[in-house]
Amino acid sequence: MDDSRIGFVGGGNMARALLGGLTASGVGPDRLWVSDPDEVARAQLARDLGVHATADNQAVVEACDVVVLAVKPQVLGEVARGLDLSSRPQVLVISIAAGVRTEPLSRWLGGHERLVRAMPNTPALVGSGVAGLYARPGVDEAGRETAERILRAVGTAVWVESEDLLDAVTAVSGSGPAYFFLVMEAMEAAAGELGLDAATARLLTVETAFGAAKLALEAHEPAAVLRQRVTSPGGTTAAALAVLEAGDLRGLFTRALAAARDRARELAAELEG
Ligand SMILES: NC(=O)c1ccc[n+]([C@@H]2O[C@H](COP(=O)([O-])OP(=O)(O)OC[C@H]3O[C@@H](n4cnc5c(N)ncnc54)[C@H](OP(=O)(O)O)[C@@H]3O)[C@@H](O)[C@H]2O)c1
Repeated sequence: MDDSRIGFVGGGNMARALLGGLTASGVGPDRLWVSDPDEVARAQLARDLGVHATADNQAVVEACDVVVLAVKPQVLGEVARGLDLSSRPQVLVISIAAGVRTEPLSRWLGGHERLVRAMPNTPALVGSGVAGLYARPGVDEAGRETAERILRAVGTAVWVESEDLLDAVTAVSGSGPAYFFLVMEAMEAAAGELGLDAATARLLTVETAFGAAKLALEAHEPAAVLRQRVTSPGGTTAAALAVLEAGDLRGLFTRALAAARDRARELAAELEG
């Protein structure tokens, strides 16, 4: 990545994952900053990753070309209002706070327009995240590339052209890991009913989920094609899928994702208060 200096306001789980991903991808720790109120957290980040750590959020703004806001959504308003970007209009701000729209955030930042909002997900903590990204019109191509490279340090990233679509991203990939965990939980329980011990049920389930995801990623074919290919007429897979279809699995997912999208909208309205 160019020679941008990248800072994080909030040094929690996500910041640590992103800082770790950035150093692993070759960004020198001397170009990385983090601010956090907790002295122990700062000392750990400085010791483990070699980054600059400070208690002063404004120091990150002064030192960096890119500032990632990585605090909880509930404190983002207060934190953003406490930053002074007036002498740093060229700074690219990336917010990873779930549910906070860029319009109020820009206002809290004194009208700052070089603003990207990212919706990452929890697998970012193990380097396998996927993030949705939205840029305000004030962000140029170079700014988009920088934001994308930062999020790619912990997985992959995809742009949406309308901020409303980040609510759909939230419903699919933000909340999505939990859907797969529920499926795994249900499969493990059902495997137990068939006589398998818990450890074996877990291993078979998790490895199958991982293998299916890997196949889907590498095949570059629609899931429907992959499913048909492993479903012989009259076979075991067809027997299981008939039960799932009869239980209206597709309808359930349609309603579940719409519920998540609607809740994301409600939460955004609450956070704007
Ligand atoms: N974790 C995920 O998988 C995930 C997924 C999608 C989006 N996100 C978003 O990413 C953001 C960070 O999540 P996280 O899981 O990393 O949360 P986290 O672990 O709680 O990290 C937030 C950090 O910000 C610090 N902080 C609190 N007040 C601050 C202030 N005034 N100035 C500077 N730092 C302050 C907190 O310190 P204290 O603990 O001492 O308060 C904490 O270390 C959230 O907005 C969340 O919505 C996270």
